Amino acid sequence: MYQYTQEQLDSMKKVEASRKERLENLHARMTADEKTAVLKEFHPDYIEGAYETLKIGPNKGEKVLHELADLLQGKSRIDSLKYDLTKPDYDVDVLVIGGGGAGSSAAVTAHANGANVMIVTKLRIGDANSMMAEGGIQAADKPNDSPARHYLDAFGGGHFAAKPCLLEKLVKEAPDAIRWLNELGVMFDKAEDGTMITTHGGGTSRKRMHACKDYSGAEIMRTLRDEVLNRGIPVVDFTAAVEIIKDENGKAAGALLVNMETGEVLVAKAKTVIIATGGAGRLHYQGFPTSNHYGATADGLVLAYRAGAKLLYADTLQYHPTGAAEPTQIYGALVTEKVRSLGAQLVNKDGKPFVYSLETRDVTASTIIRECKGRGNGVKTTDGEGVWLDTPMIEIIGGEGTIEKRIPAMMRMFGKYGIDIRKEPILIYPTLHYQNGGIDINADGETTNVENLFVAGEAVGGIHGRNRLMGNSLLDIIVFGRNAGKYASAKVKEGITVGKLTLDHVKAFEQERKDAGITSDILSPKLLPDYTRKDM
Ligand code: FUM
Repeated sequence: MYQYTQEQLDSMKKVEASRKERLENLHARMTADEKTAVLKEFHPDYIEGAYETLKIGPNKGEKVLHELADLLQGKSRIDSLKYDLTKPDYDVDVLVIGGGGAGSSAAVTAHANGANVMIVTKLRIGDANSMMAEGGIQAADKPNDSPARHYLDAFGGGHFAAKPCLLEKLVKEAPDAIRWLNELGVMFDKAEDGTMITTHGGGTSRKRMHACKDYSGAEIMRTLRDEVLNRGIPVVDFTAAVEIIKDENGKAAGALLVNMETGEVLVAKAKTVIIATGGAGRLHYQGFPTSNHYGATADGLVLAYRAGAKLLYADTLQYHPTGAAEPTQIYGALVTEKVRSLGAQLVNKDGKPFVYSLETRDVTASTIIRECKGRGNGVKTTDGEGVWLDTPMIEIIGGEGTIEKRIPAMMRMFGKYGIDIRKEPILIYPTLHYQNGGIDINADGETTNVENLFVAGEAVGGIHGRNRLMGNSLLDIIVFGRNAGKYASAKVKEGITVGKLTLDHVKAFEQERKDAGITSDILSPKLLPDYTRKDM
């Protein structure tokens, strides 16, 4: 049994006492005006003091969070490195930077298209947010659904800001992405007749979430990693890209690499480059904990920005409503939205529901912050405060055994600390989960202003607009990973001659820093988070 405080135990009793009433009466959905109001007052994206205006680079004049501005306007590492661009260590058709779901899908597709492709990754293949995804992957492949409905859900959920050509591609290619994964060997949850089991996510009008219990990302990544390795695609691991190399004609032509263990500097020459470096949770924007993996430090945005690529919506982040708030050992870890889609409700310290459980993520997260900070209805936790997610309702609604069958990872994660989520509710609070913005690309996955530089996965901006729906990220890593692999290799086939390699753009960026009076010596890309205690 977990050692809850007396206050927590008293509050838990109120949650139990209100269960019958809550089962009979679901909380009403919010109106559009109510959503706008709560977002403006409580969503972290609206805290003006957290932002600053970029002084240099392609997005000069636009606002981003301080932590990102420090890196985008940071100092290159090249001054301290010895390299010879005339003697590349690798010479490939397609260089993929990043070994998560998007990078692996891109590499597999480029390889199938006949390209000589290589993956370089600063940790190991599969050390990525893709691996940590839990709840599922959306695709409108049931008779009562359509890509058009999927588009409308995602477009509305993202505040009508998604780039239409990207969102259209995402929803139209979703059914084929599921087919592809299924054929590669992903073990999706299926009914006895072989049809896929699908559920709702926040903001979906149809049940289109395909899942592998609550290990969806791990199962998809396992399969993709196998495919990369079975094809014999070279993976250079523990090696970080620290700059994009261009050729004398200003086109992307490789990357400068540093071995994370030995410090060895390597030059990779390539005809096309795909950035698939993932997200930024480990920047802990505004002090939030994160659900992200250890290497999520926005490196791709920095690499692309210094090479001259534009960012889109880099000011907007996703705070997943349900990060674990207790016990402290798993503070910020993801509690999948699937928990709510199976029937668990959000309730405050008095056992009262305060939001319909499957509103879109930004709205739900804001109502939780309002409940705690604005209304004083949160429950004190070791690290701050939280509200209850009433998980026993899942068994009441779905029958005994539902939790073990459908969300075993959640049961295990809390079980390790003596919390049986079948019997007791859990404490949650929003956690930094996803980078809504990123690098601006066209429908072929190529950056809008650096030729031969492609991007896939969480490093892309604009697919989801200013808020993403659950399950559209596992989907976008597959759709846009394959897309980047397809078009990057097709361009190679058409014929690319790489000119003399250069890092002059990095030197020009350094000059821009000086001219703008930026004196900070923060090195970027960051590569790994720094958790050393500053007070020791
Ligand atoms: O809640 C979740 O399982 C997260 C899914 C996602 O971010 O798409």
